[in-house]
Amino acid sequence: MKSTNDTIKVWDPIVRIGHWTLLIAFFTAYFTEDDFLTQHVWAGYVVAVFVAFRLIWGLVGSKHARFSDFVRSPATTLRYIRDLKSNRTERFIGHNPAGGMMVVALLMCISATVISGLVLYAIEDDAGPLAGWVAGNSDSSAAPALISIARADDDKNANDDREEFWEEAHEIFATLALLLVVLHIAGVLFSSYVHKENLVKAMITGRKRRK
Ligand code: HEM
Repeated sequence: MKSTNDTIKVWDPIVRIGHWTLLIAFFTAYFTEDDFLTQHVWAGYVVAVFVAFRLIWGLVGSKHARFSDFVRSPATTLRYIRDLKSNRTERFIGHNPAGGMMVVALLMCISATVISGLVLYAIEDDAGPLAGWVAGNSDSSAAPALISIARADDDKNANDDREEFWEEAHEIFATLALLLVVLHIAGVLFSSYVHKENLVKAMITGRKRRK
């Protein structure tokens, strides 16, 4: 990657724009929920597009964006975490082993939240890309709409077991994702402190100091 004398380019624009877009979309979806369903669903679509794109970018993207650059063995990750206590941890230019593990956990949990949300939307509102696929909807021959027009049947299937199951699953994954985000932010701040390096600034500018 391009470098100047004392800094090196680490995060490409896709990683950076993707990250901050994900942050906005994630919190928009988290805080809108049922009261603003249209906004919730659109924010969820943005998250879904991010995750799909990030998974592909993890295979074909720039050096430090690739999974091969930051997914390490559990032993390496544990050693890194253990070394944090002794203040002699190795500095990584891309994601450190613990950060890499968190990225994978976040992507998995966000994917599960998106998928459960799409199934729930199909069952509850007969809308979204899975509407035609989820069996048992009122009119599965109708072309599915990406956004439901009205929610007149809101409570109609309130006792439907499937609906309850997916609603519960969606909530659990979303809460778990929020928990991971909190840990992620704590990890970023801690790592910034340990390595005397502003990782948030690096995620904005894309650059880190060379040594
Ligand atoms: C104030 C909130 C946040 C801050 C300050 C922040 C900061 C950062 C930083 C500094 C990195 C790079 C870590 C490194 O150097 O290894 C990063 C990566 C990442 N963050 Fe966040 N983050 C925030 C919120 C979120 C949220 C809400 C999500 C997900 C819902 C998220 C998901 C990710 C992911 C997936 C990566 C990996 C980026 C990539 O490789 O594409 N972050 N974050």
